[in-house]
Amino acid sequence: MSGAIVNISVLVSGGGSNLQAIMDGVASGAIQGARVALVLSSKPGVCALERAENAGIDTAIVSAKDYPAEAERTAVILNRLAAANTDMIVLAGYMSVLPAEIVRAYRGRIINIHPSLIPKHCGKGYYGERVHRSVLDAGDKESGATVHFVDEGVDTGEIILQRKVPVFPDDTVETLASRVLKTEHEIIVLAVAICVNKCD
Ligand code: GAR
Repeated sequence: MSGAIVNISVLVSGGGSNLQAIMDGVASGAIQGARVALVLSSKPGVCALERAENAGIDTAIVSAKDYPAEAERTAVILNRLAAANTDMIVLAGYMSVLPAEIVRAYRGRIINIHPSLIPKHCGKGYYGERVHRSVLDAGDKESGATVHFVDEGVDTGEIILQRKVPVFPDDTVETLASRVLKTEHEIIVLAVAICVNKCD
């Protein structure tokens, strides 16, 4: 670790509402002994970057378009993470699978939030709205959110926290996604606080 304060790098691809929950958690003291050191996006022009810039947090964009070769892209991400003295990584709506080299470099210090009750509706191809569509198609009566450690698989790492929400008969992908997202914002703050304590 780099000292008393745990440096968190948050990896994003979209709206950044979970990133916002983490930044708010740091500001309110719900997350103590940590700061968001870097927000790294896989895409340019996303709201998550705007949220980070508004909060004065360093940002980086490392896209597959700019770095089509995976090895080079991985090296650039690793450089950015190192330059930010990263102690812990949060995947908060990061829509790329994290390369194994990065998992190995930060093993046990990377967490991901997923919008379902893992092991249901997760793995390759299950992200964003697709997850909620799958829950509705399956006729599930409950869904939820999970925060887990990241290993070399997709959504296979040890679960840190999970919280359920009901699924109502008249739910659409949008209404279910919004209910789950609200829960995500609560458990991501709790999970980050737990992991910061372990990192410290
Ligand atoms: C969240 O629902 C997150 O769980 C999901 O993308 C959304 C990002 O929202 N992640 C995945 O589906 C990863 N498998 P946000 O950008 O507003 O935090």
